[in-house]
Amino acid sequence: MRAGNGVLYPVLGLASCVAFVYLSFGDLDWDLGIHGKVEEPETMRSFVRRNGTQFAVDEKAFYINGWNSYWLMDQAVEDFSRHRVRAMFQTGAAMGLTVCRTWAFNDGTYNALQLSPGRFNERVFKALDRVIVEAQRHGIRLLLCLANNLEAYGGKTQYVKWAWDQGIGLSPSNDSFFFDASIRRYFKAYIKVILTRRNHLNGIRYKDDPTIFAWELINEPRCMTDASGDTLQEWIEEMAEYVKSIDKNHLLTVGLEGFYGPVSPLEKLGVNPAPWFSTLGSDFLRNSRVSHLDFASVHVYPDQWKVGKGLKKKMKYISKWLVSHIEDGDKELKKPVLFAEFGLSDKNKDFDHAHRDVFYESIFDIVYESAKEGRAGAGAIVWQLLVAGMEDYKDDFAIVPEERPSMYRLIKKQSCRLVKLSHGKDLLENKLGKLCS
Ligand SMILES: *[C@@H]1O[C@H](CO)[C@@H](O)[C@H](O)[C@H]1NC(C)=O
Ligand SMILES: *[C@@H]1O[C@H](CO)[C@@H](O)[C@H](O)[C@H]1NC(C)=O
Repeated sequence: MRAGNGVLYPVLGLASCVAFVYLSFGDLDWDLGIHGKVEEPETMRSFVRRNGTQFAVDEKAFYINGWNSYWLMDQAVEDFSRHRVRAMFQTGAAMGLTVCRTWAFNDGTYNALQLSPGRFNERVFKALDRVIVEAQRHGIRLLLCLANNLEAYGGKTQYVKWAWDQGIGLSPSNDSFFFDASIRRYFKAYIKVILTRRNHLNGIRYKDDPTIFAWELINEPRCMTDASGDTLQEWIEEMAEYVKSIDKNHLLTVGLEGFYGPVSPLEKLGVNPAPWFSTLGSDFLRNSRVSHLDFASVHVYPDQWKVGKGLKKKMKYISKWLVSHIEDGDKELKKPVLFAEFGLSDKNKDFDHAHRDVFYESIFDIVYESAKEGRAGAGAIVWQLLVAGMEDYKDDFAIVPEERPSMYRLIKKQSCRLVKLSHGKDLLENKLGKLCS
């Protein structure tokens, strides 16, 4: 998704002085968990693992109903915005959601985690620590993304600029993020620092924390300067192997949009939204087959892919798109397939909120049918949820669930039928089961 540009610049001046005075109290209160019940959901002590084409936790299958909130770390930095993180997890938990996908990077922009290659802002790292602890308290697991192909929060362009500043990686292309050896080293250094980070609140290293569901290498990678796909493929192989050399506990995916590339079979190429989508330098099947990757990820944006088409046509198209990728998981990849972003734009002509209900429901149905049949469709993650008062973070796809009761019910219904499927008669032993009964 091209969203995520919204950066809220706090009003400096008196407000920041006041915030500064209260900062220590705010942090203490947060750290000790004075607000909100601190409990340790029993299911959060085990890592999510892969069982064939499905996810599993302990002895149960784990189907994902989740949401994107890319802004959590950013909002957890400042005292004035920190409460939004807890509010978002509360809302997610109340709808039975179990996974939140969020950015574990901010390269060189406002509130940057990485200030320059290998230099980190500890204040922002503490914010990421808080996000993880707060997720854990609410029984939510995190899909943490490590970089952005797009420019929001730095992205590959920032890495390339850093290299230029140091007189290396002088190729004019932003894709040198993928092919330049020095820039690859920057990114690997970043990976190592994140994975081995020791959380200042609970003392657990990120690589040992089951609250983290999985790592994602990069959001929506494209390498258009090499349409053969070889450059991105080599980058994925190298980075996936590197992550696994440090962290064998967590699952790993790429963060792909899901387009079929030049070496895909003809009938698969026909599933792309249009022929030119095979020239972006990515290849869903080839990329996802890399052995160190545990699951495949796919995004779903019919408004951008089928511009000008009506809702019915878009729905028909995305049904084909989802079913094709689930089939890939079962037959080709033998791995779970996660729909890690999906959304419907409110900028569409004649947009009505009811369209979103219909669109979401169709995706939820496909995931549920797949789960019921034990197939590879492992879940779906909405793009994107916000809490009230975050106008600057809104894009065409954002929803504040409390403002959309029918959507709220729909999402919760999906959480409940999935947990019923995985827990059967043991439903009430599970916190989520109690929420649903
Ligand atoms: C793992 O997969 C096998 C084969 O599909 C299944 O029989 C078993 O119940 C699964 N175990 C878990 C914990 O999901
Ligand atoms: C690199 O990315 C930036 C931001 O997307 C863009 O403005 C610039 O034109 C790109 N450079 C090249 C050579 O593609």
